[in-house]
Amino acid sequence: MSELAVQVDRLTKRFGDFTAVDGISFEVRPGEVVGYLGPNGSGKTTTIRMLLGLLRPTAGRAEVLGFDVERQAEAIRPLVGYMSQKFALYDELTMAENLEFYAGIYGVPKGERRGRQQAVMDLVGLNGLGDARAGQMSGGWRQRLALAIALVHRPQLLFLDEPTSGVDPVARRIFWNTIDKLADDGATVFVSTHYMDEAEYCGRLGIMNGGRLLALDTPAALKRDTLPGPTWNLIVDRLIPALDALESLPGVFQVGLRGDHLHAITLAGEHSQHTLQSSLEGMGFSVEVESTDPTLEDVFMALAGDKAPSLD
Ligand SMILES: Nc1ncnc2c1ncn2[C@@H]1O[C@H](COP(=O)(O)OP(=O)(O)OP(=O)(O)O)[C@@H](O)[C@H]1O
Ligand SMILES: [Mg+2]
Repeated sequence: MSELAVQVDRLTKRFGDFTAVDGISFEVRPGEVVGYLGPNGSGKTTTIRMLLGLLRPTAGRAEVLGFDVERQAEAIRPLVGYMSQKFALYDELTMAENLEFYAGIYGVPKGERRGRQQAVMDLVGLNGLGDARAGQMSGGWRQRLALAIALVHRPQLLFLDEPTSGVDPVARRIFWNTIDKLADDGATVFVSTHYMDEAEYCGRLGIMNGGRLLALDTPAALKRDTLPGPTWNLIVDRLIPALDALESLPGVFQVGLRGDHLHAITLAGEHSQHTLQSSLEGMGFSVEVESTDPTLEDVFMALAGDKAPSLD
């Protein structure tokens, strides 16, 4: 059991009558980057807080780095880094002072602090910005500082809770390059997100909805194994009437609106480009059908089914 970075067995959290995390089980091996994808309220933060020993599970159990989260939380905390969804920086302090403050809190020995601080500032690409006031920095820079803080005590395992939420795509890409570097150096990363594009970068990906872990596998395996059949894009002249028409066709599993076109998942062996095209044309639509590769959004929609809320 202690060979694993994280082991979770039927972990459950209820708040009164409401079940926020519903009997989830999974494992994270050392060196993995595991993503945790789910919409608002699906139980991501609640899971992470239980793994850090900050919230007591209602049922089930979990071990982090071989320690039980309920009984040995004190042993876990110095070994893990945590970037919370609402990380707290001191706006009046400079970037370097914030880092120095947290290095103290995390018990980095005084003699090592300078070197560690420099190393993490370099790693996240903040060198030269130590004297800037945190309160004057934009979201992307603040988020990099929060990551530097989570890394300052050399944790073996990192919990990042929606670390890129609210930052622009370029800043998100830079942030993920840093996660890749950390993983190359042997760190284990557990990272929650509701962005489909960054879910693609994870080694394995857990899909949460309504407190349940619906699947956990590599993005490629999820796309291969969780869909009931092929996926299609349809360019049509009248979007909503065509969506309704398509939904009523036998063999069509799901239809959604994607910007200026429709996207459909059909059941295996039920449709071809030709049958979709001619069915819609037969109902008076002008349509162009293309076969597409499945995306993680398809995976999420197929797994969550009618209970799927929107992710972005
Ligand atoms: N202390 C609490 N008391 C009551 N309900 C709570 C508490 N903490 C969380 N919840 C509820 O549990 C559910 C799961 O919340 P959680 O914060 O884990 O979701 P999340 O997946 O992190 O969502 P988000 O993407 O918005 O951060 C939500 O419906 C939330 O309102
Ligand atoms: Mg959350």
